[in-house]
Amino acid sequence: MEYTSISVNLILFFFLAGALNLCSVSARPATFLQDFRITWSDNHIKQLDGGRAIQLILDQSSGCGFASRKQYLFGHVSMKIKLIPGDSAGTVAAFYMNSDTDTVRDELDFEFLGNRSGHPYTVQTNVYAHGKGDREQRVNLWFDPAAEFHTYSILWNHYHVVFFVDNVPIRVYKNNEARGIPFPKAQPMGVYSTLWEADDWATRGGLEKIDWNKAPFFAYYKDFDIEGCDMPDMRRCIMNPNNNWWERPAYRQLNPQQARLYKWVRTNHMIYDYCTDKSRYPVPPRECLAGY
Ligand SMILES: *[C@@H]1O[C@H](CO)[C@@H](O)[C@H](O)[C@H]1NC(C)=O
Repeated sequence: MEYTSISVNLILFFFLAGALNLCSVSARPATFLQDFRITWSDNHIKQLDGGRAIQLILDQSSGCGFASRKQYLFGHVSMKIKLIPGDSAGTVAAFYMNSDTDTVRDELDFEFLGNRSGHPYTVQTNVYAHGKGDREQRVNLWFDPAAEFHTYSILWNHYHVVFFVDNVPIRVYKNNEARGIPFPKAQPMGVYSTLWEADDWATRGGLEKIDWNKAPFFAYYKDFDIEGCDMPDMRRCIMNPNNNWWERPAYRQLNPQQARLYKWVRTNHMIYDYCTDKSRYPVPPRECLAGY
């Protein structure tokens, strides 16, 4: 088993280490450069707190981005993020997993779409499976994500993909392969993040432009945590799914409390769902009918 963790909960660590006796987990401090590299504009990413947190900078000269050094097949990824305060219209911060393959891309996206001061930040999620995306959903956050750090995470196992905001599920994409609906499960994915300008589409469909007088824009990330099957023993790791906590029964479906929260989000905070966009899909895509 190959089990990787950046900052692992100690109880989980001792439990797994005891139960499996073959763990390669180390409870080391989570520093950015241990598990990530900068992929776009070095001088727009600053390390803070001895490398345990980073500041991403967007100005008129550039945005920036980073990526995990490894790729993972199934697992759980989370980060704490503090987004751009005040007038962030036209900016997008993304946190996503991507197979980095051109044609049959798999991808799981969180995109944070900025807004004018006093208007809600929007979180857009998307799922690409076997090269096909166009599955956008949007929720308006129920808090100001620029005031404090909040936790954004993705659980990816053989049963579903779940996007969480502070442990509240905001999106579930079930494995409905039995009904012929594609599910990402054959390609490992890296973990990525970028901060960039997208005022042609991001805020109110591109109506609200970025205000460069407010630049530079800053977003902060910390508590990087990736647990998943990685090389060199990726195959062996996924062949023994019961060794991996993210595959255990408790993680195969939402528990009753999570299901209630998910329903609350869908009822009160969802502002767009491709499944109900009749102008785009006169006939809803099959995964929409198969249920969440
Ligand atoms: C920005 O605020 C407007 C007005 O409150 C809202 O309709 C919109 O969904 C918000 N988010 C984006 C990304 O435009």
